[in-house]
Amino acid sequence: MKLSSTYSTLALVAASVLSTAGALELTVGDTDSVCSAATELVDGIMDYYLGTRYGGTVGMFQQPYYWWESALVFGGMIDTWKICNNYTYVSTIQSAISHQKGDSNDFYGVPNQTHVEANDDQVFWGFTVLEAAERDFPAYSNNSGDPSYADLALNVYNSMADRWDADNCGGGLRWQIMSNMSGWTYKSTVSNAGVFALGARLARYTGDNELVKSSSRILRWMKKAFFVHAPTDDSDNAGNYYNVYDGADIVNGSCPVVNGAIWSYNYALMTMGSAYLYNATGDDAWGSELDKFLGGIEHYFLSPNATDVLYEYQCLQWGRCNNDQRSFRAIVARALGDVVVLAPSFADRANKIIDASAKGAASACSGGSDGHTCGMSWSDGDWDGFYGLGEQIAALEIIQNSVIGSIGVPCTEETCGDKLDSSSFVTVPAPTVTRHFTKTSTDVHTETHTTSVVTELFYTAK
Ligand SMILES: *[C@@H]1O[C@H](CO)[C@@H](O)[C@H](O)[C@H]1NC(C)=O
Ligand SMILES: *[C@@H]1O[C@H](CO)[C@@H](O)[C@H](O)[C@H]1NC(C)=O
Ligand SMILES: *[C@@H]1O[C@H](CO)[C@@H](O)[C@H](O)[C@H]1NC(C)=O
Ligand SMILES: *[C@@H]1O[C@H](CO)[C@@H](O)[C@H](O)[C@H]1NC(C)=O
Ligand SMILES: *[C@@H]1O[C@H](CO)[C@@H](O)[C@H](O)[C@H]1NC(C)=O
Ligand SMILES: *[C@@H]1O[C@H](CO)[C@@H](O)[C@H](O)[C@H]1NC(C)=O
Ligand SMILES: *[C@@H]1O[C@H](CO)[C@@H](O)[C@H](O)[C@H]1NC(C)=O
Repeated sequence: MKLSSTYSTLALVAASVLSTAGALELTVGDTDSVCSAATELVDGIMDYYLGTRYGGTVGMFQQPYYWWESALVFGGMIDTWKICNNYTYVSTIQSAISHQKGDSNDFYGVPNQTHVEANDDQVFWGFTVLEAAERDFPAYSNNSGDPSYADLALNVYNSMADRWDADNCGGGLRWQIMSNMSGWTYKSTVSNAGVFALGARLARYTGDNELVKSSSRILRWMKKAFFVHAPTDDSDNAGNYYNVYDGADIVNGSCPVVNGAIWSYNYALMTMGSAYLYNATGDDAWGSELDKFLGGIEHYFLSPNATDVLYEYQCLQWGRCNNDQRSFRAIVARALGDVVVLAPSFADRANKIIDASAKGAASACSGGSDGHTCGMSWSDGDWDGFYGLGEQIAALEIIQNSVIGSIGVPCTEETCGDKLDSSSFVTVPAPTVTRHFTKTSTDVHTETHTTSVVTELFYTAK
């Protein structure tokens, strides 16, 4: 993914294609209604797809939508297939996975991505193939020598877990994979939250306790590095929830200053991972982690303008969300759906947000020449003039997650999944840092610079 500080200019449609029709019709929680809305939304998505066009690349959407976002979209469409039992795009999704998985079957070193691929890009393809395994999506190949979807997901997880960097900041993954890329010296939360959630899902899928422990160590490191922190020391900001910050630069082997930007996908991935681990273990300690990550979503990402409606805190208030950021609520939607299915004791909290946001999204999908183009704000009751692949996938996922309970629980090896070879699981070591911090909190809310909290940390040991 690109640097979040480089905002792309938001595209506004020309006056000639102004809103023509009413909102997308939707009765939340009703599968027929959800699926007829989903059909409209998926048609809007496929307008951006190049893979079935002359000269286009299988698995790729048109620029400026990057490779990782293809993965996000296909993951969402796997859920659409399952919920709506509609096979129209099954072969499109299969071909995309098969074409983009790379020669090493781990979505790394993939042609055309070798110069740009980072950990966060790779992990989203990992989520997509694991979604396929968990939903029992039709195999992309009938050749018994080809890896299953679960194999592909494990390969992604293993290659990422292998990159654990204990030499700097006491652990954690860097943002980038290649040392010549800008971002190599940044430990990004999304890389770590990504491998945490992927490991958590594989832990539930396999029932393997070493994978549980590995994800638990990743979370421990994120807490020690101050990427995950429960605010307690400031009455304005204290509560039973976590802050999940964006990451930190490596400075002489330490990560002294945390970038406090608040992005919904980081909260979503931590929520997702905790829900899977809670389900896998039944351990109340994971229930309590889930409580606080979900609490973070409730604290930061509900619009001030409408009850329980999601918005992208860090950028929407200024209308300056870049192309990546405009899709992030799709990941929140999927994580909330996971909470509903895998952690029933938290389902009411998740459903409240899903239902209100799905209604808001439906009314925001009323733009463009087709009358069903989705906007960015879900709290206006109408289309706000923004459009793009991110807006479409976020709306699709929030709307379809209102009926996520209808499709049963994700497969495991024991139920509907393919077996994995547990001898190959890579785990990460325990964090090797003890730190105390002195905190200087700065709230910076301006249109051009949106880092919300900067915290100075002081290492006592490496
Ligand atoms: C299946 O999806 C396609 C594409 O979105 C749509 O055109 C078609 O009407 C759907 N089929 C049913 C039975 O809803
Ligand atoms: C890489 O780009 C070429 C040229 O556009 C295309 O033919 C090929 O399919 C692409 N490969 C992948 C894996 O996307
Ligand atoms: C970084 O190194 C990789 C692997 O050697 C190479 O393929 C890529 O072109 C390099 N990227 C840049 C931006 O120099
Ligand atoms: C695999 O075989 C089944 C049964 O013949 C067929 O329906 C399906 O399309 C095949 N899948 C692929 C990816 O070729
Ligand atoms: C990093 O270490 C070098 C050598 O010890 C030192 O000169 C430099 O000031 C340090 N940089 C920072 C930002 O602390
Ligand atoms: C809330 O509504 C006000 C007034 O319409 C608007 O200026 C503001 O941008 C909205 N905020 C969000 C986050 O949607
Ligand atoms: C795990 O998911 C199943 C299926 O929804 C549910 O019955 C069970 O209560 C969940 N476990 C926990 C700890 O919530």
